[in-house]
Amino acid sequence: MQQLRRNRRLRTNEAIRSLVRENTITPHDFLVPLFVVEGKGVQEEIASMPGYYRYSLDLLKNEVKELWSMGLKSVLLFVKVPDTLKDNKGTEALNPDGLMQRAVKTVKEVTPDMLVMTDVALDPYSSYGHDGIVKNGYIVNDETCEVLAEMSLSHAQAGADFVAPSDMMDGRILSIREILEEENYVNTGIMSYSAKYASAFYGPFRDALDSAPGFGDKKTYQMDFANREEAIKETLMDIEEGADIVMVKPGLCYLDLVREVRDNVDVPVAVYQVSGEYAMLKAAAEKGWLDHDAVMLEQIMAFKRAGAHIIASYFAKDVVKLLG
Ligand code: PBG
Repeated sequence: MQQLRRNRRLRTNEAIRSLVRENTITPHDFLVPLFVVEGKGVQEEIASMPGYYRYSLDLLKNEVKELWSMGLKSVLLFVKVPDTLKDNKGTEALNPDGLMQRAVKTVKEVTPDMLVMTDVALDPYSSYGHDGIVKNGYIVNDETCEVLAEMSLSHAQAGADFVAPSDMMDGRILSIREILEEENYVNTGIMSYSAKYASAFYGPFRDALDSAPGFGDKKTYQMDFANREEAIKETLMDIEEGADIVMVKPGLCYLDLVREVRDNVDVPVAVYQVSGEYAMLKAAAEKGWLDHDAVMLEQIMAFKRAGAHIIASYFAKDVVKLLG
């Protein structure tokens, strides 16, 4: 019997491979996370995230200008709040002149067309390092939602295009959507961290913001990583409550869910390649055990193949530089 079909014909050389390639990576795929601190002239490397920095507002300006010039047009802002400003209710989060609010304005001032998203959760502001208000050792839900809604409004007033609640309280998307509608911020979007798992991969991020929980863990609000169907339930509920974009987080260990969510929803799907994923590759590359650039591109392509429309990644700049 003669062999008629030979799949290797389509792999003969780079020209044919690129002609039949099903997915591509472009700068438009990325959402760039940025860490902001108080001060002047500060660019501090995060110990567990080599090559990634916290910037004070003056240096943040250069960074966003560079991103813009590279075709990276969306950022996700996080702030590191001084201990003296932290309390149980995250009062500082609502300060109209707080670091996040000033960061949004700073980015808009130097790169007015940059899409600015803000992280909405209490942990960087909380004396307990939790994503909500603590009462008798429990993270209370509904009261936290009220603060998250006020916080979102404050970010919208500062000029944020999207708010990105990363807390996993029940009903927070509805609370946020309602306040934005009432206050006439009808075009401020919500990117919900809808399937966010209680993950050990967030370790380096908590170093970056000094936001590790002071007691216990986040398992009473973030999802159990044994669960799959729950991710779909969470995501569909967030869409019903008004989420414009949904997210799966972390990334690589959760690609099954990226695909499943993509197949079940009619809104854009984001994935977050989190700090621990970044740290893992940096460490292995530093030791000479993995080829940094090759593995990085393979990982980013895996997100595309799994069905992600948006990739939040600390590798965004590295990838775009490599694509040339
Ligand atoms: C805050 C928040 C976290 C991350 C994004 N937003 C940490 C956490 O939930 O503990 C993690 C991002 C990363 O690890 O890169 N709620």
